Amino acid sequence: MEPDIKKQLDSVLSDYEGDLSELIPILQSAQERFGYLPEEVMAGIARFLKLAPSVVYGVGTFYAQFKLNPTGRRSIKVCRGTACHVRGADRILQEIERKLNIKPGGTTEDREYSLETIACFGSCALAPVMVVDKTVYGRMTPPRVAETLADSN
Ligand code: FES
Repeated sequence: MEPDIKKQLDSVLSDYEGDLSELIPILQSAQERFGYLPEEVMAGIARFLKLAPSVVYGVGTFYAQFKLNPTGRRSIKVCRGTACHVRGADRILQEIERKLNIKPGGTTEDREYSLETIACFGSCALAPVMVVDKTVYGRMTPPRVAETLADSN
C-alpha cells in the first residue's frame, strides 16, 4: 500500500474500534475520503476488522452505494424509469454516450464525468430527466445534451 493511502486510511480507521458492525460505516467513510474503494483500501479494512478480504469485497460489490472504480469529478445520471423511457430517455443516453465516449458505469479518460442510469428520480412530470451532480434537467432532448453539459460547468 502506498504510504499516502495508508496514512489516509489510518486516519479514517482511527474513528473506529474494529467492531464488525462498523464495516458499512467504515466503507462509507473510506469512499468519502478516496472517492471510491480501491482494492488495497478494502484489504486494509479487512485487516482492521479481522475479516477475509473477500467478505469486505463482497459487501462493497453488493451495495450500489459503493464504487469500486474511480469516478469522475462530475456525475451524470440518466433516468430510465417508465415515464422517462416512454419519452425518449434512450436517445438522451445514446447522445451522452456518443459525446463523452463512455457507457453507463464508465468514467471519461480525463476523469471529468461518470455516467450512470437510475430507475426513477421522482421527477416524472419533467421526463425525460438527466441529473448532473445535484441539478435536475428536465424535458431533455438530444440537442440539449451538449448545452446542458456546458451549462453545468
Ligand atoms: S421515470 Fe424518470 S423521473 Fe420518474
